[in-house]
Amino acid sequence: MKKASLVVMISGNGSNLQAIIDAIQAKNLPAEIKAVISNTREAYGLERAKQAGIPTTIKAKRKDQDREQYDAELADIVKTHQPDFVILAGWMRILTMSFISAFPNRIINLHPALPGTFPGVHAIERAWQAYQNKEISHTGVMVHLVPDEGVDLGPVLAQKVVDIYPKDTLEDLEKRVHHCEHELLVETIHKTILQTEENNA
Ligand code: GAR
Repeated sequence: MKKASLVVMISGNGSNLQAIIDAIQAKNLPAEIKAVISNTREAYGLERAKQAGIPTTIKAKRKDQDREQYDAELADIVKTHQPDFVILAGWMRILTMSFISAFPNRIINLHPALPGTFPGVHAIERAWQAYQNKEISHTGVMVHLVPDEGVDLGPVLAQKVVDIYPKDTLEDLEKRVHHCEHELLVETIHKTILQTEENNA
């Protein structure tokens, strides 16, 4: 079976990138990461990529460019790798159509909350706070396609509930959510690769 080629886009720690790397190395995911792209040089995920021998690119937005220009240049970089899928694993910039339209049905985003809840930044912290305020009883994780500029919005590929307990600190909840997303992201990429193979057979 041909390996799916991935470009993984990150902005931070890269623990989800690491989960993908580990799954590939353990031969649990028939994929190859062609490149890791970060919008900031501070992202620790770049170090993880280097340690795994994966090429990295830092593409920061210049002050003189608008979002569309930046996204068009970003798309050009990603296109050189001809990815089957572009994985947004903690990519914290909102993408415009000048990026998105270059990869129809091929951009997969991970968000640490259930569909329709806590879009944007600090989702886990906001869920923890909402639980303290008795507004929610649980949270979750989702993986979805990115069809347009909606933030953390799009056809859901997978979702999983994450429990919250009365004694949880924010750190406890963060650990539980991250553990869940590491598994769900890898599982969902795997499922999507297999489904795409089947559809193309
Ligand atoms: C993850 O929790 C991911 O779901 C979240 O950023 C974190 C990145 O962690 N993404 C979003 O909040 C998107 N709105 P990582 O760098 O350790 O993989």
